[in-house]
Amino acid sequence: METTIHNTQEEKLIMLGGMFENIIHQFKQPLNAINAEATGLKFQKEIGMMDDETFEESLNNIINRTIYLAETIDDFRDFLKEDKVKFFFKINENLKQIESIIEPLLKAKGIKIYKTFTNEDVECYGYGREFAQVVINILNNAKDAILMNEVEEKVIKVDVIDEDENIRIDIYDNAGGIPEDILPRIFNPHFTTKEDNGGTGIGLTMSKNIIEEHFKGSLLAKNTQFELNEKSYYGACFTIIIPKNMKNV
Ligand SMILES: Nc1ncnc2c1ncn2[C@@H]1O[C@H](COP(=O)(O)OP(=O)(O)OP(=O)(O)O)[C@@H](O)[C@H]1O
Ligand SMILES: [Mg+2]
Repeated sequence: METTIHNTQEEKLIMLGGMFENIIHQFKQPLNAINAEATGLKFQKEIGMMDDETFEESLNNIINRTIYLAETIDDFRDFLKEDKVKFFFKINENLKQIESIIEPLLKAKGIKIYKTFTNEDVECYGYGREFAQVVINILNNAKDAILMNEVEEKVIKVDVIDEDENIRIDIYDNAGGIPEDILPRIFNPHFTTKEDNGGTGIGLTMSKNIIEEHFKGSLLAKNTQFELNEKSYYGACFTIIIPKNMKNV
């Protein structure tokens, strides 16, 4: 069976698909606000109640929101650019960028993300955006599973562990886990349980591909119990292991 996907155009489309919901979420509220502001201005002008101060304030609100929208577009576009050169990047900073993109939607869905580091400065060598895409795929899956299983207290936990030879990232969710009969198949191309919701089943295949081929590491999945704030949860855990000596591989 074909287990690798080399078509970067296809990868880009899939990536865009994974971020689409986040883009929509981040655009809707400011667009509605701009619309309300402009409608208000029009109305006040029509009834002859427009004073200079209101006019100025409303226009500033509109301008600020369009600046925010333009910056948001830049953030998303940066993520979709192809990495041309490998470089050292801090896992910590990479995760912060990811959060700025996906956290607003997670927050709106009531999902809390917790991160821990054994070493905040741990660095990794390679394509930073590809690494980010892998983490985004895993987080999107965690979000889907949590929402699908209607979990009450919704949590995702990300642990970054600096091991001797490797960097290890464990991403836990409390959605209840991956059914044992499908667990061996989740990395297969086109395997999805989300046919009805437009799932392509490519997210994890692409992620494994990136970690194995470009980072010479491994991507693993299991179901497990985990502790967080003195409580115990159960769900899937995805582990990314990347060798530190990547630069020499
Ligand atoms: N955290 C998780 N909890 C439970 N099941 C999961 C989890 N992550 C992945 N899965 C299962 O693995 C399958 C494959 O995931 P993959 O990301 O490759 O595709 P998808 O999410 O179905 O589609 P797409 O990524 O295109 O939206 C999912 O359909 C789901 O059944
Ligand atoms: Mg997916």
